[in-house]
Amino acid sequence: MARRIVLLILIFFTYSLMAFPQGSSNGARPVVVQGAMKSETEKLASHLDNVAVEQVGGWTFWRGRVNGYPVIVSRTLKGVANAAAATAIAIERYNPIAIINQGTAGGHEPGLHLYDIVLGTRAVSIGAFKSPYRKAGAGSNTLDWIPLNLMATDGSAGNDPNARKVAQFSGDTLLLAIARRAAWRPARGRVVEGVIGSSDVWNDEIDRIDWFHNRYGTSVEEMETASAAQIADLFHVPFLGIRIVSDNTTNGDAYDQRTGEACQDYVYQVVMAYITTATR
Ligand code: 5AD
Repeated sequence: MARRIVLLILIFFTYSLMAFPQGSSNGARPVVVQGAMKSETEKLASHLDNVAVEQVGGWTFWRGRVNGYPVIVSRTLKGVANAAAATAIAIERYNPIAIINQGTAGGHEPGLHLYDIVLGTRAVSIGAFKSPYRKAGAGSNTLDWIPLNLMATDGSAGNDPNARKVAQFSGDTLLLAIARRAAWRPARGRVVEGVIGSSDVWNDEIDRIDWFHNRYGTSVEEMETASAAQIADLFHVPFLGIRIVSDNTTNGDAYDQRTGEACQDYVYQVVMAYITTATR
């Protein structure tokens, strides 16, 4: 009996050590923070202590510490393929405890303005579709297209009715709760919750944007979050997308690159709050 109790206590402690790295950061699993461009990563990287820069192929990782805890800033480069590859590399090499993908995005609703920040309750892929048949000369209408969830079938996605839904990934509950509670508020803009849509397309057709917004509830669009979320999901790594509105064609707000810096300021607060929780 006593042996069993000792064994149970040992299992409990081993598990809790794996799940929550303790105060001493030795061996703790890092938080990875991703951004596609220099204007979305430079400020975060500047907050790191004891930085070592690692280059893997075309991807750069700044490994350092925030308040003594390991944090890695990753420049994913733009687009879904680059973001997916950067995410897989980060997970395989660094075994992160959590991944935050952050940066700029275009608004899908007129009420969202420059510098508003969207915490991604969900990320959806708005890049995978099947078009219905049209004969030669009949033109093209993207509003007729049917979504494809490329994760939903092992067969031909185009022919499997199970795949005819949008691929979506929920934001991690703990990361969302921490981001919500982050005491710091940006000087300009609001922090809201919403759906982040990702593809390699920059959409400026209002009807198309409304179609995404009405069908999938997209608040903003950009080119990385859903693909990074998909890879994190396959590796069971907690993930959250945080995006700032840098442009909004639905209300005429013109692109402002400096939003990328403001997003990093907010995300830095979220990272610090996460570290406090994870190391408690
Ligand atoms: N549509 C698509 N991507 C956008 N980005 C900012 N605004 C938009 C938008 N309206 C981001 C993408 C990509 C780069 C072009 O900027 O995530 O990295």
